[in-house]
Formats: sequence, structure tokens, C-alpha cells
Amino acid sequence: MTNGIDDREPGTEAELQLQADEEILLDELGIFGESRRKFLGKVAAAGLGALVLEIVAEQKALAFDAAEPSLSPLTVENPVTVSFSVNGMKKSIELDSRMTLLDALRERLALTGSKKGCDHGQCGACTVMIDGRRVLACLTLTAQCEGREITTIEGLSHGADLHPMQTAFIKHDGFQCGFCTPGQICSAVALMQEAKNGELSYVTADVRQKTATIKLSDDEIRERMSGNLCRCGAYPNIVAAIREVHTGKATDPMAELPLEVENASV
Ligand code: FES
Ligand code: FES
Repeated sequence: MTNGIDDREPGTEAELQLQADEEILLDELGIFGESRRKFLGKVAAAGLGALVLEIVAEQKALAFDAAEPSLSPLTVENPVTVSFSVNGMKKSIELDSRMTLLDALRERLALTGSKKGCDHGQCGACTVMIDGRRVLACLTLTAQCEGREITTIEGLSHGADLHPMQTAFIKHDGFQCGFCTPGQICSAVALMQEAKNGELSYVTADVRQKTATIKLSDDEIRERMSGNLCRCGAYPNIVAAIREVHTGKATDPMAELPLEVENASV
């Protein structure tokens, strides 16, 4: 390969001969011996040799060491420097102006609590708070966050002291696989403040009645949490957890289970 142009005949022995830079690349990727022969055989058979190696090389160039989350990737296109606070810590990072907040949190700051579910603003798994209001991090550009205060799930607890909403989710079994849970909890925490501010929802009974604080019914909780999906269907438990934090009245999760099932069959 010279100046990025591969002049080897496709499918020939020559094509399977690696150049020095390709050898190094495959060594770094840990593709040795039999695996290397199979890898090369497959890409040659598909006529993709040079292309695959170029793509792999590009991915390596963009990669960074997750153990050093403050490191910049080797290549940043359209760079902008954004300064903000994340969970009370000041951060200033140079990143691609098109990078979403979710990717910046996960890939650049190693805060992987916020999850990437759909990456299209439809599941709520990426919910974080900006200046106390819930947002979908997958639909927020990091460049929009200059000077803002970002709170992720990692910022809700203080060491072993969990946020009351986290404690309530555990007590009421508000999760199964846990994938949606960071987003659910961030959303629920912001929801408490929205209720205190008297903000209305689609199911608020009387929108003309001005109240300082809204008392959340179960319907209100369900409606206001409807942007956070749970594939495991832990919804009743999530509502119970939020209700307990909202009312401040501890409830017994076992007492909410139906004790008897009429006409039950197994
Ligand atoms: S990942 Fe953001 S809404 Fe689904
Ligand atoms: S707990 Fe599994 S998706 Fe909600």
C-alpha cells in the first residue's frame, strides 16, 4: 500500500502479504497465527482487504484509553472546547462540535451510568439533568452545555449514601435488568421538582387551578414518567417508589401484592 493506495491484485498471494504497518496493526489488535490467516482469508475472499484494514486503522486512530478518560482522542474533527460542571466537578473538554452529551459522558468522561438505548430520543435510558431539569442526553449536543450544571446518576449518591429515590427503587424492586434504571431515577428526581414548581401535565385535572405544588396521583406519575420505557415492565414498582418519595410516607412493598388470587390456575 503506497500513499493509501493498495496496488496489490485482489485475491492474489501478494494481497495476503502484509505490509509492515498492517502487520503492526494486526499485532496490536491481537490477531495472530491461525486467526490472522483466517481473518485475511475472509477479507480477501470478500475483496475487502485494503478497505477493512483502513477502517480498522481509522478506528484505532479515534480510540482512546478508557482508563484515562480526560485524554483527547487522537483525532477530533470540528473541535470545540466546552466547559461545564458534571456532578459538581468542573470539566473542560475539546470535542467534535457534533458530539452528543450522551457520547461525551460515556466516551470522554467515562460516566457510563447513563445508558444508550435507542439513541433517538424515544426510550429515556439516557436521561440526565441539566440545571435541575431532565433532558435526553442523546438529543443534546455537548456544545450546548457551556457553563451548565449536569447531574448524572453517578452524582445522586454521596459515597454509600444513596439518594432517597435510589433507596426507594431498591426497596420497591423498581427494576429487573436495571438498564433503564439510571434514566428512570434521574427522571423521577427531576419530576419531584417539577411537582414542587406546580408544573402541569396532560392528566392534571384542573389546569386553571393555580397551585404552588402539585400532589401527584399515580396517574400523574405514570403520565410524567411515560418518556422512560422499561422493557422489563417494572412500572408498578417504579410508580410505588416514586409515590413513596413524593408523599414521604413509607409503604410496605409486600402489602401492595395481591394476597389472594381468585380462580387461580397454574
Ligand atoms: S437513548 Fe436517549 S432516548 Fe433512548
Ligand atoms: S429494568 Fe430492565 S428495562 Fe427497565
